[in-house]
Amino acid sequence: MKKVRVGIWGVGRAGWGMHRKEIARFPEMLEIAGCCDLIPERMEKMCAEVPGCKAYANIDDMLKADDIDLISVATRSPDHVAHVIKALESGKFVFAEKPIGINYAEVLKLKEASEKHPGKLFCRQNRRLEAAFQHVSEIIASGKLGDVYLIKLSRHAFQRRFDWQSLTSFGGGQLNNWGPHLIDHALQFIKAPLKSVWADLRTVNASGDAEDHVKAILTGENGVIVDIEISGGMALPCPVYAVYGNKGALIAQTEKEFKVKYLDLEKCTPKPAASAETPALDAGFSSSKGMEWIEETIECNPASGVTLNDIYKYVYLAIREGVEFPVKNEEAFEVARVTELIRNAAGQQ
Ligand SMILES: NC(=O)c1ccc[n+]([C@@H]2O[C@H](COP(=O)([O-])OP(=O)(O)OC[C@H]3O[C@@H](n4cnc5c(N)ncnc54)[C@H](O)[C@@H]3O)[C@@H](O)[C@H]2O)c1
Repeated sequence: MKKVRVGIWGVGRAGWGMHRKEIARFPEMLEIAGCCDLIPERMEKMCAEVPGCKAYANIDDMLKADDIDLISVATRSPDHVAHVIKALESGKFVFAEKPIGINYAEVLKLKEASEKHPGKLFCRQNRRLEAAFQHVSEIIASGKLGDVYLIKLSRHAFQRRFDWQSLTSFGGGQLNNWGPHLIDHALQFIKAPLKSVWADLRTVNASGDAEDHVKAILTGENGVIVDIEISGGMALPCPVYAVYGNKGALIAQTEKEFKVKYLDLEKCTPKPAASAETPALDAGFSSSKGMEWIEETIECNPASGVTLNDIYKYVYLAIREGVEFPVKNEEAFEVARVTELIRNAAGQQ
């Protein structure tokens, strides 16, 4: 099958540091055929590193190039919608970095453009492929934890962010930065329309004016709650995943390993019936009698075998073999809508 030839628009930390390396993992499937950046040295560096890559100082020339199939938009966040629409209008396939837009009104324009060019847009919600997310989803689906009612997702650090990602005028802030990843995870876990959104956004430690601390509580109509915290203001981190069900729980301090504790139902005796009688003086306040537990430490290694860095393989499979891309565009648009609900709930417009 013919390789997918990629033109990278924006050779920055994402374009150079992530897209280039992810494409290089699948040399039979994809190759970088062009790049475009405002900084000539960055294009020279890409062309020196990747044989066959051509530098385009003018994006219109890259969009016209016959030997490029897919444009990966990895420019700054506020430019994504305009750049993705321009690339879609050139007739090429487009891979849109997150956040796909920085407000929902403009994301709706992107949605409209994608509908005019069906099958051409892929949204880079790449953390959908994160191994820990995959494995935690598999453990929940196994039923070990029972009915899951609360999930806490945290990415904590104490960092002094001072680049454009710390400035609101450039679409910075953790809600646009890590937000799309964890909101996507939350919506996948809830699996129901949202009933309510509560949020708090604040700047704790970053140099700019954009929030570096996001707290959002999403509740589904099915009662499932996901509590999201993304912070650059927390010197001691909480677990990245904490999942609570009516038969057990999972805690992951890092994305590498999970502690799981759940009832051994074959050995447990039935729950005592509730009683209105006055308890005996030595009855205590609850009973752990008859509860037998299974405790496991599980190394992250999802049965799906998928990892974060595989995303370009799925772009290839979608373009060349018609395999459904793991992230539906509607899901990415919903992430953008919920991002805005969070901003509004926190009192920001
Ligand atoms: N999916 C992920 O895991 C992930 C990770 C990191 C960053 N990102 C996203 O990638 C985007 C870029 O982030 P970054 O950290 O690489 O930013 P960056 O500032 O490091 O890089 C952006 C690059 O785009 C170039 N550029 C800007 N405007 C341009 C234009 N009009 N034409 C051509 N080149 C242009 C800049 O010169 C720069 O080289 C952000 O939206 C960010 O949210 C995604």
